Amino acid sequence: MSAKAAKIVIREVNKNQRLVLGLASGRTPLGFYQRLRLAHKQGKVSFNNVIVFNLDEYIGLGKDYKNSYGYYLRHQFADKVGIKDSNLYLLNGRAKDLKKECQNYEAKIRKQNGIDWLILGIGKNGHIAFNEPGSSFRSITRVINLTYSSRLANAPYFNSLAKVPKRAITVGLGTIMRAKNIILMAAGKNKAEIIAQTLKSEKNRAVPASALQEHKNLIVILDKLAASCL
Ligand code: PGA
Repeated sequence: MSAKAAKIVIREVNKNQRLVLGLASGRTPLGFYQRLRLAHKQGKVSFNNVIVFNLDEYIGLGKDYKNSYGYYLRHQFADKVGIKDSNLYLLNGRAKDLKKECQNYEAKIRKQNGIDWLILGIGKNGHIAFNEPGSSFRSITRVINLTYSSRLANAPYFNSLAKVPKRAITVGLGTIMRAKNIILMAAGKNKAEIIAQTLKSEKNRAVPASALQEHKNLIVILDKLAASCL
């Protein structure tokens, strides 16, 4: 899964040095980032002019806090492959005016003419980025209340459920759908059921990822276990 996704992104960056990427956090893309780091180290790809947008961030966590997604993206990818600071767009979970932060982020994406390749994982409840069940298919970058399911899934990072932030900023489903190309990755048995619902049930708000059914350029990359209910 990781190798396939990395191969596509490396191919696209080699075609367009100024590619605009939207990049997920979480466990799923760890192997993907590892492969991009390796390819960079081996001189097979240059990320010098690539533009990167993060997809979500916990509210209340500074970007230097190790459980923040800003820290994650720098540590797993951006800082390791030479993404320029001026080309790295992170959501600020400690912005004083969160509404403005969201509006500005959406404007920054538009200014780059949108995202060329968006890399997504999926939550057990069907969220993509942090668009929780019930999210509007037309939603844009905004503040969202995290579900119990999402907080529970991330509790191990915080050593306790109580410490997981209750709110986040996320790009919207509308933002995601405007990306020109999307790669959805999932691995493991605990994603099998939601992957089946995402791809086979009618598009519905209870499964935010089902929005992707209507995307013109969607690539789904699964391991065997995640594909086991298809
Ligand atoms: P995971 O999270 O990759 O850690 O399973 C996926 C997600 O919540 O989008």
